[in-house]
Amino acid sequence: MANSTTGAITYNSYLKIDELLSLQQPRSAGPEHDEMLFIIVHQVYELWFKELLHELDRVSHLLQDDKSHRAQHTLKRILTILKVLVAQLDILETMTPLEFLSFRARLEAASGFQSDQFRQIEFLLGAKNEKAIARFPDGSRARAALQRRYGEPTLWDAFLRYLAREGYQVPSSHLARDVAAPVAPTPEIQDLLVKIYRSDPKNAELCERLVDLDEGVQEWRYRHVKMVERTIGAKMGTGGSSGAEYLRNTVGRNLFPDLWEIRAQL
Ligand code: HEM
Repeated sequence: MANSTTGAITYNSYLKIDELLSLQQPRSAGPEHDEMLFIIVHQVYELWFKELLHELDRVSHLLQDDKSHRAQHTLKRILTILKVLVAQLDILETMTPLEFLSFRARLEAASGFQSDQFRQIEFLLGAKNEKAIARFPDGSRARAALQRRYGEPTLWDAFLRYLAREGYQVPSSHLARDVAAPVAPTPEIQDLLVKIYRSDPKNAELCERLVDLDEGVQEWRYRHVKMVERTIGAKMGTGGSSGAEYLRNTVGRNLFPDLWEIRAQL
């Protein structure tokens, strides 16, 4: 909607500010002061998740087109966004356990566990779980997006195919692997990566950016679980999991295990 008198695009009409500002709807009576922060932080996360997916897809496409320099540039942007995502947890940690409890019951079974965009990011990075798809209603946007990503090559697949085109002997079993299967560490790929680190600075840099990405996601997981521990302790999650115990098990899982394994060989 443009400015009604001049027809010109305005800040408000371009960014749909009225719609955006109408989307924060607390459920608690009062409403409780801290619920606004809780809603806004989560909504901002979802917007950044959308941007991350946009940029991660771009990295895959740039690798497909052998534009590794541009892919690195985009990875740098992704890492910068990840830093912001981690830093944002500090804001939510200003909310005490009692302040959270003042509205927690109103969340019912809602939980970040149900963020389809977070699962999409995991899928794109190779951590796919078919069960996660079935949690979303048939015909929903979320389910369709997850189904599509489940069948698509991961960022690791795009990387291996790029390396093959760069002249590296990536075994055909890896190039044609089941893209829904977990990314498992393998000696053949590790030999090749060691070679890259020793004699191919351009691609070694790209590998390091992928390690940054892997570490960045783990950093978020670690900080999220510490925030959960300080806010709800050992209580169950609203999403029905064991809470912090479940989350602790997701920390430390490498997305690109070969890139970590080779460190001892360098
Ligand atoms: C007071 C703040 C928060 C608390 C107490 C909390 C608590 C939890 C708990 C207990 C879980 C485990 C699943 C379950 O609900 O049973 C979980 C999962 C999750 N939360 Fe949070 N959370 C908080 C803030 C956030 C924020 C700001 C985000 C950002 C989007 C977020 C995203 C997620 C995601 C993506 C998962 C799924 C993780 C996985 O399955 O690996 N949470 N959260």
